[in-house]
Amino acid sequence: MKTVEINVTVNRRKYKKTVPVNQTLLRFLRETLFLNSVKEGCNEGECGACTVIVNGHPVNSCLVLAAEMDGKEVLTTEGLIDNEWLHPLQEALVEAGGVQCGYCTPGMLMSAIALLNLYPHPTRAQIRKEMEGNICRCTGYTRIEDGIMLAVEKLDAIREKAKECGEPTPWFPGINDNFNEEWNSGYVVE
Ligand code: FES
Ligand code: FES
Repeated sequence: MKTVEINVTVNRRKYKKTVPVNQTLLRFLRETLFLNSVKEGCNEGECGACTVIVNGHPVNSCLVLAAEMDGKEVLTTEGLIDNEWLHPLQEALVEAGGVQCGYCTPGMLMSAIALLNLYPHPTRAQIRKEMEGNICRCTGYTRIEDGIMLAVEKLDAIREKAKECGEPTPWFPGINDNFNEEWNSGYVVE
């Protein structure tokens, strides 16, 4: 099997790995890096269970090759945890009842992160549009929408509190407050 060497950053850690040229990003993340939050559903780009963030954009990891990740930054649900604290988005999804069997949840979280970078204060219509590639068989979607709306409130409240206390703007894994600015300037690479 032909292989290729890649340098990739995953969840803020840099890796140099030799990968088969036909290995999908899904297989690389699960089988080489053991990041098992990345779920295999349809394996053909229809369900969104395998969604990860690549350079700020949601990507179906079953549809791209690990070899294409050279020089890129990948985020999975494991990367949402900071110092063992759940991300406000994770807390919100749980509190709103947006997690049942949980199989779709890591992909939902990744798409929601991308959504919040694009629309920091999304409408429900924007949530539905940006999350339409993620299928959930349990929740009926409304609770997932509620969870994302609650996450926005939580993120705003934490930022507001830091401001009142004169502390620096808090950092949340995956959240890039300058995403739109960077995108428009061409800094964010698709
Ligand atoms: S497993 Fe990739 S979209 Fe379904
Ligand atoms: S919570 Fe079960 S598929 Fe979404």
